[in-house]
Amino acid sequence: MKIAVIGANGQLGSDLVSAFQDNGDAVQGLTHADIEIADLPSVKRVLEGIQPQVIVNTAAMHHVENCEREPEKAFAANALGARNLAFVARDLDAVLMHVSTDYVFDGGKGSPYVEEDAPRPLNAYGITKLAGEHFVRATAPRHFVVRTSGLYGKNPCRAKGGLNFIEVMLKLAKERGEVRVVDSEVVSPTSTAELAQQMVRLSQSDCYGLYHATAEGSCSWYEFAREIFELTDTRVRLNAAGPNEFPAKVPRPKYSVLENKALKSRGLNIFKPWQEGLQKYLGKRIKTSSPSVLT
Ligand SMILES: NC(=O)c1ccc[n+]([C@@H]2O[C@H](COP(=O)([O-])OP(=O)(O)OC[C@H]3O[C@@H](n4cnc5c(N)ncnc54)[C@H](OP(=O)(O)O)[C@@H]3O)[C@@H](O)[C@H]2O)c1
Repeated sequence: MKIAVIGANGQLGSDLVSAFQDNGDAVQGLTHADIEIADLPSVKRVLEGIQPQVIVNTAAMHHVENCEREPEKAFAANALGARNLAFVARDLDAVLMHVSTDYVFDGGKGSPYVEEDAPRPLNAYGITKLAGEHFVRATAPRHFVVRTSGLYGKNPCRAKGGLNFIEVMLKLAKERGEVRVVDSEVVSPTSTAELAQQMVRLSQSDCYGLYHATAEGSCSWYEFAREIFELTDTRVRLNAAGPNEFPAKVPRPKYSVLENKALKSRGLNIFKPWQEGLQKYLGKRIKTSSPSVLT
């Protein structure tokens, strides 16, 4: 198939390009320099030139504090950008696979969220991403909306500019005798390599719709750090941070675990427990050198 991957040099996008190529697809990777999703003429010109059968969108403004500070910009990328892609996917008769987030939920449920749960975002990032989901679902006849959470991969997240959580923990451990990490936010840390495989698998089906797609199980950031240090034999004093030690500047869900209910009900779920994804990441990290830092 001919696939256009938008955000191709991003954390998830770079693994998607590799995963679709490994699957034998003809992949056109598009960076921000190639396409501006908030601009309909740009989206039309670029995608009409490629004529893809599947458009995969990872592009977003997703630095939570920046979205809160500049909601118009966040809406332009996350909501209108998704709408532009949906219009063009419809007109080209292409499938649109659009990546969304666990931050569409408020965290109040306290047990894993399924696709039928009513979203209630707490911040501008979540609100604009939810609006993007609605535009895609209302406009692109053949779409996959894929909600995920707590991503880490071999390439750093460009929006957050630098190292992923695992690399930050290992760096802090090297520099300090003690590391303090929040224990009050529960997520499902998900490897972008594994998510990319899952999205390739999904793209081969015609079961269009809304999907939760995260590693199995959940942990707090503190528990995630503990597992990182155990698996790497890192000697450091790890302590749970107090409730007000790192006050959030923007409200965030305390519990945003997603259940891959739709994937499972269609026999499509390939995710393993989060500990296995972490082990694989750390295994590859030893073989290669540590990931590059954004410049
Ligand atoms: N990271 C997480 O933990 C997480 C969790 C849940 C959901 N998600 C979702 O997953 C997706 C991918 O995240 P990621 O970590 O791979 O992000 P990333 O590393 O920041 O990559 C995003 C890519 O999109 C590009 N981009 C941004 N705005 C654009 C625009 N207006 N037009 C065209 N391209 C644009 C970026 O280019 P530039 O950097 O050059 O602007 C970058 O290549 C996002 O949709 C995000 O909402 C992420």
